[in-house]
Amino acid sequence: MSEPITAVVASNQARPGRKLQHVVESQQFTVPLLMELFDRSRGMERIVARGGSLDYQHRIMATLFYAPSTRTRLSFEAAMQRLGGRVLSTEQARAFSSEMEGEQVEDSIRIIGSYSDVIVIRHHEEGGACRAAQVSPVPVINAGDGDGGQHPTQALLDLYTIHRQRPLNGLSVALIGELDKGRTARSLAYLLAKFERVKMFFVSPPETQMKPDILAYLEQHGVQYEQETNLDRVVGEVDVVYQTRIRPERLCDRASLKRYAIDSSVLRRMKSDAIILHPLPRTVELDKSVDDDPRALYFQQAKNGLYVRMALLTMLLERE
Ligand code: CP
Repeated sequence: MSEPITAVVASNQARPGRKLQHVVESQQFTVPLLMELFDRSRGMERIVARGGSLDYQHRIMATLFYAPSTRTRLSFEAAMQRLGGRVLSTEQARAFSSEMEGEQVEDSIRIIGSYSDVIVIRHHEEGGACRAAQVSPVPVINAGDGDGGQHPTQALLDLYTIHRQRPLNGLSVALIGELDKGRTARSLAYLLAKFERVKMFFVSPPETQMKPDILAYLEQHGVQYEQETNLDRVVGEVDVVYQTRIRPERLCDRASLKRYAIDSSVLRRMKSDAIILHPLPRTVELDKSVDDDPRALYFQQAKNGLYVRMALLTMLLERE
């Protein structure tokens, strides 16, 4: 039987000399750790503006992606290179790694961990990153696991983007889309729950509602939330509109998809100082006409991924 995820996360504390051992799920971050990450991310904005640093020139990061990615893989690779480090990359690991020959992820990780100082993994199965962390001799970062697992570094950059705009305590956030399988929304809900007086609205078609594990966590931690199937009812009262993808084939009534889309009519109903985020990639749920609205921050959000991932790498690679 595999080791529970709590034991893997607890191993962060078990290894002396490191601030952070693995990044597997967003619950593992404390508010002080988040604030340290965000302070470092601000510093990384200045480092990138002057072209980068050479501080990590003897360090190697391996990226092992068993599922497609544009932003996560390339921003991690850019992050390591901006820190002066080097990168080993397998971008289509299901086709071009020894998984094709039947190799288990545990064996791959043991080997790759002997070639590199940190491993970034996107695995096609929920729990894949946790399995990797259990055997890895070097820090493992979950870059998204399965359909309905987590994507903690996306949530970190989402939260950083909000933090750059407004206080995190007292936030009202609508998380919209295919929430049952939306690993970015799941990870962000866990992070938002760490702040005071936060209220979350989970807006989705009935067949893709947020799963009970998140709802139970929020109840245990006294966090306010509502489940909603009608975007119109909440979009005028929230500070953050966090839109995510909805695959039409998952809906019983495909025509209902447009009820969850952000377009110019939704913009008119939003607060003037609200912000719109989307982890991207997008399809029809976020109309291109929204891009020029000053509240649309999703391209800045993707850019922030570089700074946050640089900061995270420094926290994983340095010793106290
Ligand atoms: N947001 C996100 O994870 O994007 P990619 O799939 O392009 O990495």
